[in-house]
Amino acid sequence: MAAIAIVVGVPGVGKTTVISRVVDRLGALGYNAEIINYGDIMLKKALELGLVENRDEMRKLPVTKQLYLQRVAAEWISKRSEEVDLILLDTHLFIRTPRGRWPGISENNIPYLKGVVQLVLIEADPEDISRRRMRDKSRIRSDYGSVSEIEADQLYNRYMSTSISIRYGCPVYILKNEEGKVDEAVEELVKVLERVITDSRVD
Ligand code: AP5
Repeated sequence: MAAIAIVVGVPGVGKTTVISRVVDRLGALGYNAEIINYGDIMLKKALELGLVENRDEMRKLPVTKQLYLQRVAAEWISKRSEEVDLILLDTHLFIRTPRGRWPGISENNIPYLKGVVQLVLIEADPEDISRRRMRDKSRIRSDYGSVSEIEADQLYNRYMSTSISIRYGCPVYILKNEEGKVDEAVEELVKVLERVITDSRVD
């Protein structure tokens, strides 16, 4: 079974930017790592069903629909090829819905997400995250809130990460993605994930 590292962070923290470069670096070092973006899989199904027109509409769907999409995506992930050393699962510990924060990992999808051996929580300065969101014109994030809400969301992620860590018995690595220092963040995470891969092989 492929080892899974769950990678989370508030939207705009730069997790997609960091992990796409991490996978390239791991490849150059001879490791076979693959990114699965949870939102992409949910979006594919949601589009097929005509539920949404873009990814930013998913978090506003009725929670029952989101639970369904979340479970379908987890089933898909559990059937993925097992020919890789590591899957980096790009996702969220919570989603901001109109009813409040809703868990991205819970009893709804944990039964399908086997092989989780690491949680990586990416953080950055809330002011920087706010500016990154504003620069990204491809997304509709006007409902994401102020700098103080970003700060509160990052704290909420820390609380949530403890429950995931306890559930899977896996470590939580907190990675800072500082402004203009993506290279440094990538190198730091590559070192951690090399340990994850070698530990998994020993197991
Ligand atoms: P998802 O696909 O994860 O999208 P998102 O979190 O809204 O946004 P991104 O992932 O695009 O942000 P990011 O943090 O990766 O930032 P990026 O690298 O782009 O989720 C979409 C939806 O799917 C969710 O809303 C939800 O509905 C659903 N979903 C997902 N998982 C789910 C689950 N488990 N259960 C239920 N629903 C789920 O970077 C942003 C910008 O910052 C870029 O311009 C980049 O160039 C810049 N940048 C990055 N790093 C730096 C740096 N160090 N310095 C300067 N600029 C930087």
